Formats: sequence, C-alpha cells, structure tokens
Amino acid sequence: MIVVSGVTKRFGGRPALDGVSLTVEAGTTHVLLGGSGSGKSTLLRLVLGLAQPDAGEVVVDGVRVTPGSRAEIQRRIGYVVQEGALYPHLTAAENVALPARARGWQAERTEARVTALARLVELERSWLDRHPAQLSGGQRQRVGLMRALALDPPVLLLDEPLGALDPITRAELQTQLVRIFRELGKTVVLVTHDVREAFVFGRTITLLEGGRVVQQGTFADLARRPATPLVTEFLRAQAPPPEMTAYL
Ligand SMILES: Nc1ncnc2c1ncn2[C@@H]1O[C@H](COP(=O)(O)OP(=O)(O)OP(=O)(O)O)[C@@H](O)[C@H]1O
Ligand SMILES: [Mg+2]
Repeated sequence: MIVVSGVTKRFGGRPALDGVSLTVEAGTTHVLLGGSGSGKSTLLRLVLGLAQPDAGEVVVDGVRVTPGSRAEIQRRIGYVVQEGALYPHLTAAENVALPARARGWQAERTEARVTALARLVELERSWLDRHPAQLSGGQRQRVGLMRALALDPPVLLLDEPLGALDPITRAELQTQLVRIFRELGKTVVLVTHDVREAFVFGRTITLLEGGRVVQQGTFADLARRPATPLVTEFLRAQAPPPEMTAYL
C-alpha cells in the first residue's frame, strides 16, 4: 500500500506538486492522469525516494520514504522510467538480468527468470539477444517492463510505459499488462496522459493539473460526477469526434 499525504515539492520556488494526497491499496492499479508538466513523474520520484518532499510524506508498505529508508524502499519497487532507459551497450537479456546480477544470482537462475519473463510479456526469447537499438519501440518497452519485474517486486511504478507505440500494439500491451498485474497481485502506479489507458488500467484515478489534484475516483466518478469542468474537458479531449463514431 502506498500512502501519499499532503505532499508539496518545489523547484526554484515553483511547486511541481502542491498538497497532493493519494492512497493506492495493495494489489490494485492506480493511474496518475494529467497533462504535460502536471507533476506525474515528480510524484513517482518522491515515492522512490529519488527526491524529497518540501512538505508532507510518502509511506510505502508502512515505511516512510526518507534518505535513510530509500534503499529498503527501492528494493520493494520496480520502476519503468519514462522513455525506457535501457543500457544501449548491453543486449536486452543482459538489461533484464542486471538487477539479478546485482543481487549475485547464479547464471542459471537468472537465465530461467529471463525466459519466464519473456513468456510473461509475450516476447520471443531470441529477440532478447539483440541490443536495444535493434528492437522496435514496443519491444524495448516490454524489455523495460521485464527488467522492472525481474526481482518480482510487490510494487511497480510505471511512467508512460506504453508511450510512443502504435495504437494496435498499445492496445495489445494494455490488455496483457492488466492481466499480468492482476495475476501477480502487484500494487501499481501507472502514469499516462491517455484517457483510454486510464480507463483500461485504473481501478482508481488521480487527475493532476499544475501539481494539484483536480479529482480522484473511478473512471465512472470522473465521467459522471466531474469535480470541475476541466475533468470533462480532459476526458472529452481524446474522445473520437461525433462524426467519426458514426463509422465505428
Ligand atoms: N529536477 C527538476 N528541476 C526543476 N524543475 C523540475 C524538475 N523536475 C520537474 N520539474 C518541473 O516540475 C513540473 C512537473 O514536472 P513533471 O516531470 O513531474 O511533469 P509530468 O507530469 O511528468 O510531465 P510529462 O507528461 O511531460 O512527463 C514541471 O513544471 C517541470 O518543469
Ligand atoms: Mg513525466
């Protein structure tokens, strides 16, 4: 369970997050939805202890995130950074194996884990002997996800894990990931600016704007009982135009 209480984070006096609170129940997926610069990535970084809040606190599975507890917190969390961030000089398999290597796993155990993860994200094992530059964007994102899952952490923080994918691959991966998170019982915070994605993934959603929470709830709450006109505007901005729905 992740509890964010009254968190404010300023950069050069300007708040990137302003009194943000949210709770993610264990084993559920919570979506951070919001436009560019709304504070989504900053919030993930605070959960990871990569930055410290100016006010408020973050508690992960009962442990308050501080510089002292950061290493312990990070052991519990798999993180997929915005843009993937694979090491280009390593093969995909070596990228996935890094966390296990760092823990001193034997080669055999690591290889078995890599193979199991490839099956989980439905990526052919042979692709993993390539370097990231030789993979498509969707394959790279699967590899990033495999690396985050490598040590089977109870918590996953995913920053736009499906950005820059074609719509068909994106929809396929969304379906696979929903299944994976449910099967594995992960506590997930997923960042997106994509309304469809928020609908598919999020048991609960926080809509952020300018570092503040505009509304929290289920997709139905946001759609049916919008807290402000901005909520409706945000949800509608990505809906197909009415003329188009006649063709669908
Ligand atoms: N290290 C930093 N130093 C200074 N300002 C920062 C830093 N990190 C974030 N910011 C600022 O904080 C605000 C929130 O940034 P953040 O990266 O959290 O947005 P975001 O919601 O993830 O946006 P995007 O959808 O574009 O990734 C922005 O105005 C950004 O410029
Ligand atoms: Mg971001």
